[in-house]
Amino acid sequence: DFSYTNDPQKLALKNVSFSVKSGETVGIIGGTGSAKTSLVHLIPRLYDATGGTVKVGGIDVRDYDMQTLRSEVAMVLQKNILFSGTIKDNLRWGNPAATDAELMTAARQAQADEFIQRLPDGYDTYIEEGGTNVSGGQRQRLCIARALVKQPKILILDDSTSAVDTRTDSLIRTAFKEEIPNTTKFIIAQRVSSVQDADKIIVMESGSVNGIGTHDELLATNTIYQEVYYSQTKGGKIADEA
Ligand SMILES: Nc1ncnc2c1ncn2[C@@H]1O[C@H](COP(=O)(O)OP(=O)(O)OP(=O)(O)O)[C@@H](O)[C@H]1O
Ligand SMILES: [Mg+2]
Repeated sequence: DFSYTNDPQKLALKNVSFSVKSGETVGIIGGTGSAKTSLVHLIPRLYDATGGTVKVGGIDVRDYDMQTLRSEVAMVLQKNILFSGTIKDNLRWGNPAATDAELMTAARQAQADEFIQRLPDGYDTYIEEGGTNVSGGQRQRLCIARALVKQPKILILDDSTSAVDTRTDSLIRTAFKEEIPNTTKFIIAQRVSSVQDADKIIVMESGSVNGIGTHDELLATNTIYQEVYYSQTKGGKIADEA
C-alpha cells in the first residue's frame, strides 16, 4: 500500500503485489490517476510504501544505501527535463565518466543519434533551459538516451515516448530488447502498441492492479485492456498508424 498523506483511508496504491524477473519488460497501462507513476516511484524510493515492501534483487529497497540504489535505477520522469548546456552535458548527467562513444551508443539506442547529427553543432549543440529549442519527441528521446548512459539495471520510462511516432517508438523497444537484454524495463504508456510486446502488462485502475498478463491473455480476459485496445485500433490497425 502507499498513501501520500499517511491516511490509511486515502491510499494511492492498494494491495498491489507482483514480481518481475531480471531482464523482463513490464508494461504498465491504465487511465489517468490510476497510480502508474506512484507505483514506479516506489522503486528508486522517491516515496516509500506505507504498507508492505518493495524489493529489488530480493532486498528491501529501504535496506539499500540510497546512492547505490539510485545508481542502478534510471527513471525518465513523466515531466522530463533537460537543463541548459550542450547535448553532451545533458547526456552525461547520470554518468559524468561516460565516453563520447558511450553517449553515442545510448543516443543511437534511443533513436536520437540521427537528429543530433543533423543539428549544426551535433552533440555540442546548446540546449536552452527546459529544452525549448528541441521538439517534444526529440526531448523525450534525449531523456531516454540520458537514462541509458547510466547503464542501469532497472530502466523506468514514465510515458516517455508519448510525443514520439509509433515507428520510432517501436525502434526504441527493439533496441532495448536486442542491446540491453539484461536490464529490467518498466514502460508506462497510454498506447497499447508501446506495451503490447512486454513480458507482462499490468493494468492499473484506481490504485489497484486490475489485471496482469501478456497482451494475448489480457485481450482475452481483461475488460479495461480490451476497451483501451479496441479504442486505439481501427479495422485491425493501430489507430495512430492508420
Ligand atoms: N505528489 C502527490 N501528492 C498527493 N497526491 C498525489 C501526488 N501525486 C499523485 N497523487 C494522487 O495519486 C493518484 C495517482 O496519481 P498518479 O500520478 O500516480 O497517476 P497516473 O496513473 O500516473 O496518472 P497519469 O496517467 O495522469 O500520469 C491520483 O489520485 C493523484 O491525484
Ligand atoms: Mg503518471
